[in-house]
Amino acid sequence: MRGVFITFEGLDGCGKSTQTERLASVLLADGYEVVVTREPGGTIIGEQIRGLLLNSRTQGMSPLTELALMFGSRAQLIQEVIRPALGSGKVILCDRYTDSSEAYQGGGRQLGSKPVLDLHHIVCSGLNPDITILMDSEVRASVARARKRNQQATNGGGALDENRFERENAAFFERVHQAYLAIARREPSRVFMVDARREADVVHSEIVEHVRRKLAVFEARSESRK
Ligand code: TYD
Repeated sequence: MRGVFITFEGLDGCGKSTQTERLASVLLADGYEVVVTREPGGTIIGEQIRGLLLNSRTQGMSPLTELALMFGSRAQLIQEVIRPALGSGKVILCDRYTDSSEAYQGGGRQLGSKPVLDLHHIVCSGLNPDITILMDSEVRASVARARKRNQQATNGGGALDENRFERENAAFFERVHQAYLAIARREPSRVFMVDARREADVVHSEIVEHVRRKLAVFEARSESRK
């Protein structure tokens, strides 16, 4: 079977990373070979681009520069990680992908969806996720959590400063949220929206149930093609 490409999406601080890790453990125990990665980043080049994108010293970055760098990181990740993993039948879990660009640069920065989808067409050449988990959360609570976490990382003496997006205002994140909801409405068969306001265990169970059901469908399809 070709591998399966699963992405996680949502606002900063919605609990995505925890849920990604927890799903990875379940799928490993189910016998899948699993690769976990993230955007921006996931490769040596991509992590350097991530540094540029998230560092709060790069405040003056233009929205189009930001968008192009997101896709620069993505192009590298596709070549080095995603395509090879899919080619060898693995399940790849990616923390963010093109939907993030459509929500943050298209919605948040108000570039609109078109340039994002055009670049997706060029850079990703049809590589779309098989399953996207969209963690729907409260704007205020999520951003407050992300700010606290990143400030702790910065103040803890670590060199990591990933505060640039968290400094945006509530209106920015409200636009990001609305853009995510529009993507979910447009592509209901790919995007599974989960209410991330609830307990992490409840959210986890719902994600596992959905992913297992989808994987069973993909497996049955690939069996019937043999
Ligand atoms: P991430 O590390 O997932 O942050 P968090 O754990 O707080 O959710 O993502 C870093 C930031 O990059 C996040 O604020 C969203 C932003 N981003 C974009 O604006 N566009 C993109 O295409 C991607 C992949 C991320």
